[in-house]
Amino acid sequence: MNTRETVKTVLVTGGAGYIGSHTCVELLQQGYEVVVVDNLVNAQQESLNRVAKIAGKAPVFLRVDLLDEVALDAVFSQYSIDAVIHFAALKAVGESVAKPLAYYHNNMTGTLNLFRVMAQHQVFQLVYSSSATVYGDSNPIPYREDMPLASTSPYGRSKVMAEQIMMDLSAADERWNIASLRYFNPVGAHPSGLIGEDPTGIPNNLMPYISQVAVGRREHLSIYGNDYMTADGTGVRDYIHVVDLANGHLQALQLLARKHQRFSAYNLGAGKGFSVLDVVKAFEKACGQSIPYKFEPRRAGDIGEFYADASKAATELDWRAARSLDSMCADTWNWQSKNPSGYGQV
Ligand code: UFG
Repeated sequence: MNTRETVKTVLVTGGAGYIGSHTCVELLQQGYEVVVVDNLVNAQQESLNRVAKIAGKAPVFLRVDLLDEVALDAVFSQYSIDAVIHFAALKAVGESVAKPLAYYHNNMTGTLNLFRVMAQHQVFQLVYSSSATVYGDSNPIPYREDMPLASTSPYGRSKVMAEQIMMDLSAADERWNIASLRYFNPVGAHPSGLIGEDPTGIPNNLMPYISQVAVGRREHLSIYGNDYMTADGTGVRDYIHVVDLANGHLQALQLLARKHQRFSAYNLGAGKGFSVLDVVKAFEKACGQSIPYKFEPRRAGDIGEFYADASKAATELDWRAARSLDSMCADTWNWQSKNPSGYGQV
């Protein structure tokens, strides 16, 4: 089925990464032409070979860093780009606290270069990869799109700043048509087991850490805090299957194609929280073995509980999270067990 209307070719920045690669699969399967730019700092080109295998069609791949505005300009000259999905960014919260300059330089300068080149080439349709981290630590749950934005890390502030820049752009020039997608906690993998999350070094996030324990790469899981004001004392998050998330980007592209809205933000979450222990139990069921864990003190900067009010995405994007926690764990395990070293094993 080909659902595209006016948008034919989509530029995907960071398309070799975790969420980018899953989005490329869905775009190709829906008949879009896909051009990926990625500097491969935190991604493997092999992911795009796998994307081609799943979709039966390859995206164009160009190894371009968004900090290289000349190279980026050449991409827009060579290809007739109709819309952009902008994923490319550094994303490790803890690392961003240690290296704020690197994070601001990469995430802000790369984003500014992209927007400048888009405007020069008259490309104004944009889907932006934002995060629930823009809600900071003072808003009541569930988070709604109209709440004030703030964040607690340089990474998070780079997302808040990018959203502010997009609001300013769309206020100054009505040709911009932007959807900012605020992801909650993306997990899972494509059900084929061919693509999935492949973090460099020790995983920061819960699901990849659990799956590396299950596959024997790590001894045990550290659970950061069992004294939160939650049902079992462990942190509660709104986990969202990466294929559902990828589909949210297609729904956003279709919205931009049919409706000019300047700037709008959408929560992409399930609207439901699960604790760390809920995830551990669901993963044990999926992999058929127990996951050894130890309780540790709370991790600096963590919030006890947050989840989305996902009603705006349901109403305006016609998008809902469809996949359960069990399928998030089963698909993660399918990917991890078939690729114990991620893409490194090819
Ligand atoms: N956790 C553990 N052990 C681990 C890793 C995580 O107990 O080894 C716990 C955390 O304390 C938290 C939950 O598991 O309660 C989820 O933690 P993640 O690191 O998987 O996810 P976060 O909610 O901390 O971070 C995610 C994204 C960030 C984003 C943030 C806010 O990874 O990019 O949500 O939206 F900024």
